Amino acid sequence: IRVDSEAASAFVANYIIERIRRFVPTATHPFVLGLPTGSSPLGVYRILVERYKAGEISFQNVITFNMDEYVGLPKEHPESYHSFMWKHFFSHVNIHPSKVNILDGNAPDLEAECVNYEAKIKAAGGIDLFLAGIGEDGHIAFNEPGSSLASRTRVKTLAYDTILANSRFFSDDLAQVPRMALTVGVQTVLEAREVVVVALGARKALALQRCVEQGVNHMWTLSALQLHPHPMIVCDEDATLEL
Ligand code: GLP
Repeated sequence: IRVDSEAASAFVANYIIERIRRFVPTATHPFVLGLPTGSSPLGVYRILVERYKAGEISFQNVITFNMDEYVGLPKEHPESYHSFMWKHFFSHVNIHPSKVNILDGNAPDLEAECVNYEAKIKAAGGIDLFLAGIGEDGHIAFNEPGSSLASRTRVKTLAYDTILANSRFFSDDLAQVPRMALTVGVQTVLEAREVVVVALGARKALALQRCVEQGVNHMWTLSALQLHPHPMIVCDEDATLEL
């Protein structure tokens, strides 16, 4: 728990930097970083970029896998997760485009896209550190309430609460928010060697309480982290209101 979102973001950025620095990459196993979108990781990305520009960290030996992407939204759309990642992070650091992996929500065969994504993660040696945010309803990636805790990368229909929450990025117009997404599964996240979750603000307080202080439950999918050997939740004080 950190006093505010800036301190929580700085803690997470430092943590990731230390992990990458200490990692000894080989030709077949670079550092594999899982990444989220949303407002929660924005501070982390900003600080990582600052530290890169200060010469304190290199992403040369890092390969990334994003958690999710909307279905049917053109890649170039400003709210696609492709656009988000390039705008806030990838364009500002020394990561080679060939090492960036983001699900293609416009793939002709969405199911094949999901199966291939899992295969790519496996071929890269598995995810070393998965950074994640949390939805107000306790979802991780787009694993909406009711998702199987054994789920893998797949097509998911978004919950009404998520469409409502994300409409703020689409001029508050619910009709513009995509109804479906591709997302890594709960099990995909659980297989990462380490999972770091950022939870900021009072809007996340109920979800944090359900996921941390109650039992493992597929209605609050982040609660599956209770089964992970190396999970960490980094939050600000506002997010702890219900704890
Ligand atoms: C979306 C994303 C999640 C993210 C959540 C919370 O649903 N798929 O990965 O954690 O939004 O977003 P925010 O951080 O903006 O509250």
